[in-house]
Amino acid sequence: MSLLYPNPLGHVYRLIEPGPVLLVTTGSLRDATHNVMTIGFHMMMHHQSPPLIGITLGPWNASFARLRKHRACVLAIPSVEMAPEVVDIGNCSAAGDGEPTKWEQFALEARPADQVEPPLIAAPHILANIECVVEDTILVSKYAMWVLRPVNAWTRRGDHQPGTVFHHRGQGVMVADGEAIDLSQRMIKWQEFLG
Ligand SMILES: Cc1cc2nc3c(=O)[nH]c(=O)nc-3n(C[C@H](O)[C@H](O)[C@H](O)COP(=O)(O)O)c2cc1C
Repeated sequence: MSLLYPNPLGHVYRLIEPGPVLLVTTGSLRDATHNVMTIGFHMMMHHQSPPLIGITLGPWNASFARLRKHRACVLAIPSVEMAPEVVDIGNCSAAGDGEPTKWEQFALEARPADQVEPPLIAAPHILANIECVVEDTILVSKYAMWVLRPVNAWTRRGDHQPGTVFHHRGQGVMVADGEAIDLSQRMIKWQEFLG
């Protein structure tokens, strides 16, 4: 059977990598400890009451200590035009003393968020910013997974997101979203989520 080739378990994520690839800001804009990094591993956990998002952000990142300290972050959604910079941001670590920060290096503007210490990202290819607080750390020590609760969200034009998000297929290979297929007519069991 041609479909039954063994697949290494360590590569399973490449089959079901979710997306879109996100930027995560942590630290504090007020004391200039704000940082930014890239993540591909995340998931929606709850629609509402409250909405919850799980992200994997491990102690190998400088952002980890910042997230632990302020218990807040901003998830920024880049469009595909920004993919090369997003990969580069995920391949370098927070600047040491006297070195240019990632904000300077990648010409990203940090803007104060409304509800949290870490900043929003203002850049031409950032489609949305979601301000989040840490809701639960029960999975952090074992899985580096943080349960976040969005407390504020910004998009470029209301709910509509102009621009195409992209996903990580592993090994630095990205895939951009394709054509939208509207099957809302078939969502007969889930009316409450159609509004
Ligand atoms: C495409 C891509 C996806 C990544 N996904 C994750 C992820 O889901 N979780 C994570 O902890 N690190 C992830 N990383 C690695 C971090 O972005 C990387 O370690 C970064 O340098 C951390 O920056 P910092 O040390 O300044 O916090 C990813 C990197 C890339 C390029």
